Amino acid sequence: MTTSGAAGPIDLPRPTEPTDPAPAERADGGDTHVTLSLAPTPAVPIDLPTTAATAIDASASAPDIVFDVTDFAAYYGNFRAVRDIQMRIAKNRITAFIGPSGCGKSTLLRCFNRMNDLIPGTRVSGSIMFHGQDLYGPDVDAVAVRKRIGMVFQKPNPFPKSIYDNVAYGPRINGAKGNLDDLVEASLRRAAIWDEVKDKLKQPGTALSGGQQQRLCIARAIAVEPDVILMDEPCSALDPVATLRIEELMAELRETYTIVIVTHNMQQAARASDETVFLTMGDDRAGYIVEKGPTIDIFTRPANQLTEDYVSGRFG
Ligand SMILES: Nc1ncnc2c1ncn2[C@@H]1O[C@H](COP(=O)(O)OP(=O)(O)O)[C@@H](O)[C@H]1O
Ligand SMILES: [Mg+2]
Repeated sequence: MTTSGAAGPIDLPRPTEPTDPAPAERADGGDTHVTLSLAPTPAVPIDLPTTAATAIDASASAPDIVFDVTDFAAYYGNFRAVRDIQMRIAKNRITAFIGPSGCGKSTLLRCFNRMNDLIPGTRVSGSIMFHGQDLYGPDVDAVAVRKRIGMVFQKPNPFPKSIYDNVAYGPRINGAKGNLDDLVEASLRRAAIWDEVKDKLKQPGTALSGGQQQRLCIARAIAVEPDVILMDEPCSALDPVATLRIEELMAELRETYTIVIVTHNMQQAARASDETVFLTMGDDRAGYIVEKGPTIDIFTRPANQLTEDYVSGRFG
């Protein structure tokens, strides 16, 4: 089993199709956004740029920063879904995005591997540097980006193929030849599902339980040896036991990968993440970052009243 590649240019062989299925459905499950009337909207985003990334970056040297986001905004047509995003995401950490429904968490997450490109009419401004390289630069192949930066969705979405072929799919379309048994086994082991499936690798992935399917999808993401795994509410369709298994798994995966997770579950963010980014939205419904920092700080001594109201369940 190889570990994730070190920082490097994104000049990978171009697969013939995306390594992950396109989000055929709205990643937030298509719920129509409720226009939340928030507590007085600050006219300007609060303490954004100056505190940006200090929590993560204070002592970290540049190579430990995986994503460096500057003045980033994402649009659907004329609608600006997120604005003024400044943040850094550190290597081998779990960063959680929290905030009310519709504030742009999924949109922002999808921008980290250019998945949002697949939605017609989207555009972005500002920059997301990935290991120092502009993700939206003219020479960057979005398909190669998605290989380095994998994604796991809200609803487990195994392909209608065998368990084995689900995991072998990405490596195969990336040109892997020969016997993939070792890679499949290593990926399934790493996703903590090997023991449950090793005797039925030929059975359909869709026949597994929801929690197993989600771990299979994680194995599938891992099989192409990404740097980063993005997870959009990966447990929202799972029961509490399966949820805990995914959280334990995330803690193990963090040794090797950088994880960014969207969750609407406060306990999950508090339990499972190292860094938390709280977003909300203003009157124009554009999401922006209110506060970010070590998870412990966000939950125990937030600097901003909006954060405090949200994490204490007073709103959202
Ligand atoms: N495919 C899309 N087309 C148009 N608008 C979208 C699309 N996806 C999301 N939006 C809008 O962008 C905003 C942010 O949505 P989303 O990122 O799904 O928020 P969250 O994940 O925080 O619930 C919402 O106003 C939503 O309606
Ligand atoms: Mg969402």
